[in-house]
Amino acid sequence: MEELKIEKIKEGTVIDHIPKGNAINVIKILGICSDSSASIGINVPSSRMGSKDIIKIEGRSLSATEIAKLSMVAPKATINQIRNYKVEIKSNVDLPERVIGIVRCINTRCITRAMEPIKSEFYIVASEPMTIRCIYCEIEMNGNMIHDNII
Ligand code: CTP
Ligand code: ZN
Repeated sequence: MEELKIEKIKEGTVIDHIPKGNAINVIKILGICSDSSASIGINVPSSRMGSKDIIKIEGRSLSATEIAKLSMVAPKATINQIRNYKVEIKSNVDLPERVIGIVRCINTRCITRAMEPIKSEFYIVASEPMTIRCIYCEIEMNGNMIHDNII
């Protein structure tokens, strides 16, 4: 299949194999700002996925927290660290066993949302579509409900 050409980057991070339509959620998580430039491919043909989204960020790497957040919207994404135009490190996002401190529970009465809140924590119930369950109040969250509540 023909690949859409987005220019290669010199130094930075390529987040590949993002489920189509989710680049915008990834951008929200990373909060791409004035000191890094990014190219975004939406609905790009992919031999593995049919079509996918891809984001190339010049001059920036991802923190462990950002990768944990990324797992909520693109659990099968590939992270390529680029140095001097070459892929230096290729890694997978991978799903954590528990999602700790990165998603706000939607239940306003949950103990994690009390006056002196404790850290949110969820089990992963399913990954397609992403579904998580609060370990404290047992409420289930999925899809946009998760994306809109990433802390
Ligand atoms: N890439 C880039 N700039 C570079 C090097 C690579 O933008 N200087 C991009 C490529 O265009 C590709 C991704 O980073 O989208 C991964 O590169 P590479 O490992 O060479 O491609 P594939 O073998 O197709 O990756 P995979 O096997 O993970 O699908
Ligand atoms: Zn809860």
